[in-house]
Amino acid sequence: FGRNLKLLETTTSTQEEVRRNAEIGAAEGMLVIAEEQTLGRGRQGRSWFSPPGKGVWMSLLLRPDQSLACAPQLTLLTAVAVCRAIRTLTQIDAGIKWPNDLLVNGRKISGILLESVAEDERIRYCIAGIGIDVNMDLEDYPEELRTKVTSLKLEQGAEVDRAALISAILQELETLYDLYQEEGFSPIAHLWEALSVTLNREVTLHSGSQIVQGYAVGLDSSGGLIVQNEEGKKVTVFSGEVQLNT
Ligand code: BTN
Repeated sequence: FGRNLKLLETTTSTQEEVRRNAEIGAAEGMLVIAEEQTLGRGRQGRSWFSPPGKGVWMSLLLRPDQSLACAPQLTLLTAVAVCRAIRTLTQIDAGIKWPNDLLVNGRKISGILLESVAEDERIRYCIAGIGIDVNMDLEDYPEELRTKVTSLKLEQGAEVDRAALISAILQELETLYDLYQEEGFSPIAHLWEALSVTLNREVTLHSGSQIVQGYAVGLDSSGGLIVQNEEGKKVTVFSGEVQLNT
């Protein structure tokens, strides 16, 4: 991964850069990294704050030979890779909130946006977008974000080398992606579970107009979250926002 690398000073969104390259036939592993995004995108139509020079904003092209139904598994795989890279490179105890937010002490430090383009229910390609708040200070954030987010620098008390972080992520991604192709989702699910801050917690899940409340008990084979509600009934949710209750 990353041998075909495009490094940009500024762009609207690294997702769009990769999409353009994918459409003209770029091979799996193509990587775009930007110093700054002017229209960084988050999940569910949100924007992603991507100021210059202090974060990792990058997107990777994947071309798995899989059905579209497997895309959520790749989201979880990417979250595991980023979480493991952060833990290897720093002392920071990052955990994964289902499906793919990385949290440190309840504050968001990284987000993942996996976008898939499919044809007849088969994946043509996926774009794995990774955003990590690396060397931000609190005053770098807009006021409304300050209580909700954190950066590696804020947690570690020292700057983190972005190039080393990117290289650790790519290594983890390659290893996990190989494992996934060879052995399927189950070993990835186990790694995810070990890093999860969602499992064995009371959660409230907002999924479209549906609200599910209960105890998060596990992952299903396609990457959905299994929640057991008060009546003991198990419900599997495939997308949405988790609120962790104490
Ligand atoms: C989220 O938590 O909502 C996902 C955030 C994903 C942000 C990354 S930054 C690199 C890539 N380009 C984008 O526009 N978004 C993703």
